[in-house]
Amino acid sequence: MEKTELKNIVILATGGTIAGKAASGTQMTGYTAGAYSVADLLAGVPELGELAHISGEQLCNIDSSSITDALLLRLAQRCNELLAQDDVDGVVITHGTDTMEETAFFLNLTLKSAKPVVLVGAMRPATAVSADGPLNIINAVKVAVDAASAGQGVLVMMNDEIYSGRDVTKTNTANVATFKATNGGPLGFIVGGEVHYYYRSVRPHTLQSEFDVTGVTALPRVDIIYTHIGEDRVFVDAALAAGARGLIYAGSGMGSIHEAVEAALAEAGVVVVRSSRTGSGIVAAGLERWQEQGFLYADNLNPQKARLLLQLVLLRTQERNEVQGVFLKY
Ligand code: SIN
Repeated sequence: MEKTELKNIVILATGGTIAGKAASGTQMTGYTAGAYSVADLLAGVPELGELAHISGEQLCNIDSSSITDALLLRLAQRCNELLAQDDVDGVVITHGTDTMEETAFFLNLTLKSAKPVVLVGAMRPATAVSADGPLNIINAVKVAVDAASAGQGVLVMMNDEIYSGRDVTKTNTANVATFKATNGGPLGFIVGGEVHYYYRSVRPHTLQSEFDVTGVTALPRVDIIYTHIGEDRVFVDAALAAGARGLIYAGSGMGSIHEAVEAALAEAGVVVVRSSRTGSGIVAAGLERWQEQGFLYADNLNPQKARLLLQLVLLRTQERNEVQGVFLKY
């Protein structure tokens, strides 16, 4: 392709293993994530110059396990600014894999553009023998410049697979094939260096989403209560004492609630949404008793994604029917 026909893609770097540095080529754990800058990353993949006009921007350089609500808001706002520019055709976000699914879902709900936005990371640090980052970045830029990526919502490109930000989740601590959509599958693949799509996400996102974080400086506190045998009400009470305005209950099975905790949830006086710790499947309305107590259900969002959706909806309402409608819609 002629250089003049290439699209303009911004690489927005946030850190993670893709920018990670270890002491040797075989060290795959215990390394420092977010050690290399965006300039270092781009210098490692000169092939990008054949695919797009690339510019790099460093938003932060951290391990994604430490991302805060404030940083998430800043990332969404910066993406919206970039996407509004005529000279930006798409954004690729380099990101740690640990919380990539959360950022991807949050951006999927809050970005106001049909231009492609693709999150990418790596499971092996940049110093590793067989580091997966460089090819992942090349593939992410290929996805970002592909016309079929427009209007697909925020995407995650990992290990030759393209996922919807709504559905993707990290399923394995170390394997490069860690990302899956446990209630479905990838939207597409990169094979032979080419982008192939087969599916679309039907849940509203980006331009169809009602959520807008322009000017928002903080999100309501929502905590996740993770059930287990022998659970008691201590964490529910602690969350409420800390100012939680909503609770996601990561229940067993189909969002089942430990009987020792049920009263605490019913008395909480905040929105309670049942999700599941199982990793896949739908959580439905469940027992009539739970419905009478006003407990809502997360459909097939995992607890960490349900938390983000509840934070966004609580910016404008805590009316139970409306909140439930949002969970069934998004
Ligand atoms: C991180 O999430 O920042 C560290 C782990 C990774 O990127 O794989």
